[in-house]
Amino acid sequence: MTANARIGWIGIGRMGYAMAERLAKAGADVTVWNRTRAKAEPLAAAGAKIALTLPELAACEIVFCMVSTWDDVREVIAGSGGLLSDKSRAPKLVIECSSISLEGSAELRALLAKRGVELLAAPVSGNAKVIKAGRLSFVCSGPKSAYDTALPYLRMIAPAASYVGEGELSRIVKICHNVFLGVVTQSLSEITVLAQKAGVPRHAFLEFINQSVMGSTFSRYKTPAFVNLDFKVTFTPQLLRKDLDLGLDAARRYEVPMPLASLTRDIIQTLIGRGMTEQDFAQLLLLEAEASGVKLAPENVPVSDGLS
Ligand SMILES: NC(=O)c1ccc[n+]([C@@H]2O[C@H](COP(=O)([O-])OP(=O)(O)OC[C@H]3O[C@@H](n4cnc5c(N)ncnc54)[C@H](OP(=O)(O)O)[C@@H]3O)[C@@H](O)[C@H]2O)c1
Repeated sequence: MTANARIGWIGIGRMGYAMAERLAKAGADVTVWNRTRAKAEPLAAAGAKIALTLPELAACEIVFCMVSTWDDVREVIAGSGGLLSDKSRAPKLVIECSSISLEGSAELRALLAKRGVELLAAPVSGNAKVIKAGRLSFVCSGPKSAYDTALPYLRMIAPAASYVGEGELSRIVKICHNVFLGVVTQSLSEITVLAQKAGVPRHAFLEFINQSVMGSTFSRYKTPAFVNLDFKVTFTPQLLRKDLDLGLDAARRYEVPMPLASLTRDIIQTLIGRGMTEQDFAQLLLLEAEASGVKLAPENVPVSDGLS
């Protein structure tokens, strides 16, 4: 297999779109499929071909997958009408990037192995804007040879890829990452509201945090949302709840107490129960403000997200 392999791409959502776009723009031979085809069509302008059916992608050597949950992955790969539904052909390698459980990933590996297909489990850190800024990172597990084959293509999408070992190990790394994402966002919401209620404008507070040793790429790129209350969705509360649930399931399996993750999971559930599902999960800030009797208004201060 060369760096000129035919690449298939399943799932042109917020993440899949931005990732496949980078691959196509880097000159890879990419054919994409999305359940809602209209979302995939603009990728033709970046040089991607649009498939009408999933089994068409089985003619590719490598197929990436970026959908929502393990049930969705199983459906697009092994469901009737899925990638493997044409018994006469299958890709050599599937690179599965959705955030799913260790168990789902192991089941996927077994399903693919029956058809002689290798799996690289390759979830990611970063949202669509991070991808566009060239700052995404992959965490990968599976056969080392599959990682070596995938690497030239991973590099077209993201500057950083880590190989953490055999099997499904990358899944637990990603689950831990997103538990941290939820807990950190809730903590950032709490301290931002506390500082504001005591009289500190959010932009001033976050400017300090971002420049301190506690500041991070993440706290910087969430700052515009926290300051100016722009909650255009990057990641939905439902997908974050999925990841907290995956973390808590793993914690039960490995008998690790995760009190902060449990609390955060239920706070995200409250966000969802309030119907705050159409905008970004960073609306955790609004929930915290409401619980504190603070009415938030956009500060209308230009602040950098540290990405652009
Ligand atoms: N957004 C982030 O910041 C972020 C960061 C890292 C990892 N992730 C993970 O990446 C994955 C995708 O997230 P996203 O934000 O891109 O989600 P999204 O915008 O909701 O996109 C989901 C994609 O999956 C497809 N899909 C879902 N169920 C399907 C099914 N049963 N059959 C066929 N296609 C199906 C959707 O197709 P339609 O367009 O037809 O609905 C869409 O292309 C998730 O596992 C998420 O946890 C997200």
